[in-house]
Amino acid sequence: MRMYDLIDKKKNGGALSAEEIRFMVQGFTCGNIPDYQMSAMLMAICFSGMDETETLELTLAMKDSGDTLDLSGIKGVKVDKHSTGGVGDKTSLVLTPMVAALGVPVAKMSGRGLGHTGGTIDKLECFPGFCTALPEEKFMENVNRIGIAIAGQTANLAPADKKLYALRDVTATVAQRSLIASSIMSKKLASGSDAIVLDVKTGNGAFMKQEADAAALAETMVKIGNMAGKKTAAIITDMEQPLGNAVGNSLEVIEALQALRGEGPDDLMEVTYALGAQMLLFAGVTEDRAHAVKLLKQTITSGSALHKFAEFVKAQGGDPEDVMIPGRLPVASEKIEAKAAADGFVTDILAEQIGVACMTLGGGRETKESAIDLSVGICLKKKIGAPVSRGDVIAEIYANDKTRGADAKKLVEDAYRYGEIAPEKRQMIRKIIT
Ligand code: URA
Repeated sequence: MRMYDLIDKKKNGGALSAEEIRFMVQGFTCGNIPDYQMSAMLMAICFSGMDETETLELTLAMKDSGDTLDLSGIKGVKVDKHSTGGVGDKTSLVLTPMVAALGVPVAKMSGRGLGHTGGTIDKLECFPGFCTALPEEKFMENVNRIGIAIAGQTANLAPADKKLYALRDVTATVAQRSLIASSIMSKKLASGSDAIVLDVKTGNGAFMKQEADAAALAETMVKIGNMAGKKTAAIITDMEQPLGNAVGNSLEVIEALQALRGEGPDDLMEVTYALGAQMLLFAGVTEDRAHAVKLLKQTITSGSALHKFAEFVKAQGGDPEDVMIPGRLPVASEKIEAKAAADGFVTDILAEQIGVACMTLGGGRETKESAIDLSVGICLKKKIGAPVSRGDVIAEIYANDKTRGADAKKLVEDAYRYGEIAPEKRQMIRKIIT
């Protein structure tokens, strides 16, 4: 079998067999198939697509490319959560300490930024000393001891995805349904949880811009999860504008900490509660969604979620004072104001462009080897529906470089749209698929 022939077949719209998919995944994982051939295949998949059988086979081949975590040593129902990616999406940082504070074990593998979207692992690395590469024994010990551990994908957990993820990030091949479904579900199946809650984003800042495409992605992933014997639910949520106000690693962590203190923006909290409630239902904490939300809210008012987060940061090598004392995390030195170009109401904010503006500041990777600047980002001062006058500050840009800051300011200002009539309030939770 030759990779060349498989690329040609996919380029011409053919369906790859299970054997061909395994050949490709194994060859790429062990280094026999080079990045340039895999990049060509990824682009061919973007243009020709994959059918349901190919998507399932790709997921299983990627899952089988490495080890599977055995979480049976952790007591309780292990419920994992994963987002398809968005701008300003810091829900995992808020949600996981909340459910852990309610006794649901969180044993989570998270990713780095992908394309114009951020990743939980980059965000956690804002805490000086925080270790995201926990050895398996330490990972299990932390979950058993304090109820929560979050780590990056270990070298041998779905290694095919680890390599593909990095390659897709820099070859404009992220936004494809089968590639996203197999990437997420291979990791989730390999990481040994009992149940999976998926946050499937839709809108301008998501990889699936249209709700129908997001629903199809959600259904594919739920089907794969159920077929593998895991309770799986997908919640389709709005990503038409950035979630919350902060975009950029350190700024997002600061906003997540505010949320854990009870000062989170409404849109962020609504999505967090919806995902958390589904996790509590799967874990058997309650059978009632409204009761689940009530329990989650109590973890904020009682401070138990914030304390759980501090415990978690400490257990992974960070300083819990960075959680308890606001303002200790690094924020870029240069603050630039972006201004409104018209009077009226904000009708749209092109979220993907805000994500790109953050990357322009140095907050995202341009090549697989790029280091990122965790301290840069954007703080939105006006969201969709806000009344504005021309010249009002719509966002603050935090930069370490004046030229990059000026480029980001232009991108942010151009991302805003204005109208004379206030738009309807956005519906954050679109659909729950189980
Ligand atoms: N998250 C992932 O893990 N993979 C994707 O392809 C998209 C989001």
